[in-house]
Amino acid sequence: MERAERIKKIPPYLFAQIDKKISELKSKGIDVISLGIGDPDLPTPPNIIEAMKKAVEVKEYHRYPDYEGSLEFREAVSTYYKNRFNVGLDPKSEVMALIGSKEGIAHIFLAFVNPGDYVLIPDPAYPVYKTAAIFAGGIPYTMPLLEENNFLPDFSKIDEEILKKAKLMFLCYPNNPTGAVANEEFFMEAIELAKKYDIILCHDSAYAEITYDGYKAPSILSFPGAKDIAVEFGSLSKPYRMTGWRIGYAVGNSEIIQGLGIIKTNVDSGQFTAIQKAGIEALLGPQDSIKEMNDIFKKRRDLVVNTLREIGIDVKSPKATFYIWVKVPEGYTSASFAEKLIEQAAVVVTPGSAYGEYGEGYVRISLTTPDHRLMEAMERIKKISF
Ligand SMILES: Cc1ncc(COP(=O)(O)O)c(C=O)c1O
Repeated sequence: MERAERIKKIPPYLFAQIDKKISELKSKGIDVISLGIGDPDLPTPPNIIEAMKKAVEVKEYHRYPDYEGSLEFREAVSTYYKNRFNVGLDPKSEVMALIGSKEGIAHIFLAFVNPGDYVLIPDPAYPVYKTAAIFAGGIPYTMPLLEENNFLPDFSKIDEEILKKAKLMFLCYPNNPTGAVANEEFFMEAIELAKKYDIILCHDSAYAEITYDGYKAPSILSFPGAKDIAVEFGSLSKPYRMTGWRIGYAVGNSEIIQGLGIIKTNVDSGQFTAIQKAGIEALLGPQDSIKEMNDIFKKRRDLVVNTLREIGIDVKSPKATFYIWVKVPEGYTSASFAEKLIEQAAVVVTPGSAYGEYGEGYVRISLTTPDHRLMEAMERIKKISF
């Protein structure tokens, strides 16, 4: 069966070898610990589950939902933005519910990118930006995220001809996979650049609430002029441990939101209203569970960082996200280091090259594994000589 060209253009799956090793070990009965997945291990907080239980009984919610999300959900997002970021949003025109933020991130390209348009994509990055750009016929232009620039793109390195031809740019801070954060100066620079070259600026803020050491992540919309050219994608998956529920939102410039809405009305029929009700409880109900979760992640972060330092691997302690981005020791590639951890410790980490060519030389360790399993993984890693 001949596949479409757009599918053939997707980068090859690099980790068949590693998957094979995992299956081999498991088939031998070896206890494999995965530190690969970014999915909170803690359950969804009970108040959110209770809201869902009540909502699921409501007969009106069993019918098709509103495409753009219920007005009540959009109002809740707007209230959350006011309370959390002091950003005002018109719930009717500047907020749209998504079936998880991934859905909106993938669809925004179809709304604005024509075949042959350049799109500015960070590397390493959440892979959906690049694949969605390819699906839309766009030309992904790589913005390297280098350690020496604190994993921020250096806009001065982008050729002016590319900037003139670019239609859309994606940014993500706090950043998956590097754990880096961005300051006001950087966001202002991005906004000015996008305005100057008429580029749609998309900010992925999936990790805005997963922060430590007193750091509070800003919304791009809190900076002057952002609403003229920017949208922000938010997720309830990570802060409220709702990954399986599939609920998120897009907020910001109303024309961009409207464009995204046109794609959505032709592809999906909105998210189940009962899940939106649970989302409202998440956004407007007690927020203590976020701090409790972050306290747990912080302890795990310190455990992993200290273990790696003990065995001579220099690593930065991230202020945000539940990922540790680790430079592999001399003589290893991302894949060979990941393979060594699987072979000698039965511990799975993600090779950095899964996130793009500039992820080569790193691996990503996720903190979303129960404490005792993470401790066991660290004990096993300590015994390996590199
Ligand atoms: C950077 C980033 N953005 C977006 C998402 C998608 O989250 P969701 O679709 O669950 O809202 C993820 C999920 O891992 C992510 O890491």
